[in-house]
Amino acid sequence: MSDVIEQEPLLAVSDLGVDYGTGRRRHRAVEDVGFEIPVGRTLGLVGESGAGKSTIGKAVLGLVPVAAGTIRFEGRDLARLSRRERLALGARRQVVFQDPYSSLDPTRTIGYTLAEPCRSAPRPDRMTPQQITERMGALLSRVGLAPDAAERYPAQFSGGQRQRIAIARSLMLSPRLIVCDEPVSALDLSVQAEVLNLLAEVQRDLGLSLLFISHDLTVVRHISHEIVVLRGGHVVERGPADRVYEYPEDPYTQALLASAPVPDPEQQQLRRDARRALAEQEG
Ligand SMILES: Nc1ncnc2c1ncn2[C@@H]1O[C@H](COP(=O)(O)OP(=O)(O)OP(=O)(O)O)[C@@H](O)[C@H]1O
Ligand SMILES: [Mg+2]
Repeated sequence: MSDVIEQEPLLAVSDLGVDYGTGRRRHRAVEDVGFEIPVGRTLGLVGESGAGKSTIGKAVLGLVPVAAGTIRFEGRDLARLSRRERLALGARRQVVFQDPYSSLDPTRTIGYTLAEPCRSAPRPDRMTPQQITERMGALLSRVGLAPDAAERYPAQFSGGQRQRIAIARSLMLSPRLIVCDEPVSALDLSVQAEVLNLLAEVQRDLGLSLLFISHDLTVVRHISHEIVVLRGGHVVERGPADRVYEYPEDPYTQALLASAPVPDPEQQQLRRDARRALAEQEG
């Protein structure tokens, strides 16, 4: 029986539509979007600025209303939950944002920030102060920080370290899904790789599912099992990560790849030519 439950995707989004604005200003930012994330898998969501990536992430976290379609998490339709279920399922979906500077309260110690999700956790998940301290220590070491980090303030850490703290915070309530919205875009290239590796490790070790959002196909490639490419609120392509990266079918995906910086100038020129050809084709 439990096998059957495990085979059901952890997250199933179908025909999702999200609107912004009201009255005449109302417009659909995301339309007919569908994908699934199995237990313990990572889905990369890519597209350029304004494509609707964060909107989808917010819908999955229950932060924007769903205008059409359904989002099922652990087999439950998120639109049809009681208050208690909403709280319980909310704790199992966490988020890591792009900006490690603004996502941590500068006036609070790291320890206070890490314990915060526990203070507002639904009762069955509530931990004693002792348990919270132990968990904090274990997670700080898990993300590669010293235990005394808990007594320090965000300003005392680098961007990469702050993002490690944000990852530790997202793990405090033992979530099953983490929405990572451009988690490395604000970091230096060398630090990006470290934080990506940490996320991949944590994902594997804890059997988590990730919805990994980025405008950069090369960033999502290695961490994702599957990739969904979004343009103007619509899915233009989806498939296994290696396939989408190496043999992109949609011209938009090809252009996205072509716009990513490439260290090899010759390769870069080829891609530039391909992009120009595509632009001409589209008129
Ligand atoms: N709160 C809002 N009110 C009105 N329109 C919004 C709001 N948030 C986003 N939008 C619009 O919805 C569309 C999708 O925005 P979204 O933030 O999801 O894009 P994104 O893919 O995350 O872009 P970026 O890469 O810049 O973060 C855009 O056209 C944006 O202007
Ligand atoms: Mg965004």
